[in-house]
Amino acid sequence: MKHFTQFENKSLADSLIEKALFYKSNPSIDNALGEGKRIGCIFLNPSLRTRASTQIAAINLGLEPIVMNMDKEGWALEMKEGAIMNKGTVEHIKDAAAVLGSYFDILAIRAFPSLTNKIEDLADFTFNQFVKYSGVPVISLESAIRHPLQSLADMITIEENWAKKESPKVVLTWAPHIKAIPHAVANSFAEWAIGCGHDLTITHPQGYELDESFTHGAKIELNQSKALEGADFVYVKNWSAFNDYGKIVSTDPSWMLTEKHFEQAKEAKVMHCLPVRRNVELSDEILDGKRSLVQEQAKNRIYAAQSVISKILG
Ligand code: CP
Repeated sequence: MKHFTQFENKSLADSLIEKALFYKSNPSIDNALGEGKRIGCIFLNPSLRTRASTQIAAINLGLEPIVMNMDKEGWALEMKEGAIMNKGTVEHIKDAAAVLGSYFDILAIRAFPSLTNKIEDLADFTFNQFVKYSGVPVISLESAIRHPLQSLADMITIEENWAKKESPKVVLTWAPHIKAIPHAVANSFAEWAIGCGHDLTITHPQGYELDESFTHGAKIELNQSKALEGADFVYVKNWSAFNDYGKIVSTDPSWMLTEKHFEQAKEAKVMHCLPVRRNVELSDEILDGKRSLVQEQAKNRIYAAQSVISKILG
């Protein structure tokens, strides 16, 4: 595995999950693996979990992490090939990424979508410019269309909370939000859940259909209460419209889960990647109750990152 940007195959996913669980029990066992090496964590957007968990994972493996908030502390980057840089941008990605590649053994990049330029977002243009010009292994800390470290942590969390032989019924439900939110978490969760062999149902109001290239193999059920029937895990997430790209087409508050929604799924566990808008996306009673796995997911972000960095170090 050179880069870590998406779900590749079940056997790789299984080995990453197994290694992550091993590191969870033995966090410092490989603390010489990254000795003398550095990972650059480059953020073009805000973060709490991804920032801290990736640094902890690197330290557990003996690497030195260096974090740059490129959006606030770096030069304004030009991404376009052949640009005449006579406006606001100061440094071309060609130059910046090559410099970063010469400083670091691994780069980890967060680059959100614009939600206005669908073609560039779907091509993961900004993220891929770093891959193209850095010349070193790149880990996605969330790109325009995927958030694979989050999804790996989510698969680890499901694995830890599922003892039965048959696949769990997993439901990905849209939730209301006041802002236009990227598709990366929902896309990636669908990609990983289907790839890992889970029985996935996706539910959302009309107009919130996700990009089919991520949902092929999932059942789509527009009636939320029907979708929730018999669920073992319910993953809650907002996303903006994909067809009417980046738009908010509904904020229907009845989609926010409360205990009442679980009459037909009494044992279901609830997941969310965080940050969460309480009592907009998810009710306090769910987040603070026994169903919630959100803190376990956040903790597993460390071991997901540790497993991935370890695999790249080989
Ligand atoms: N879930 C997640 O990626 O959290 P942060 O945006 O805080 O990193």
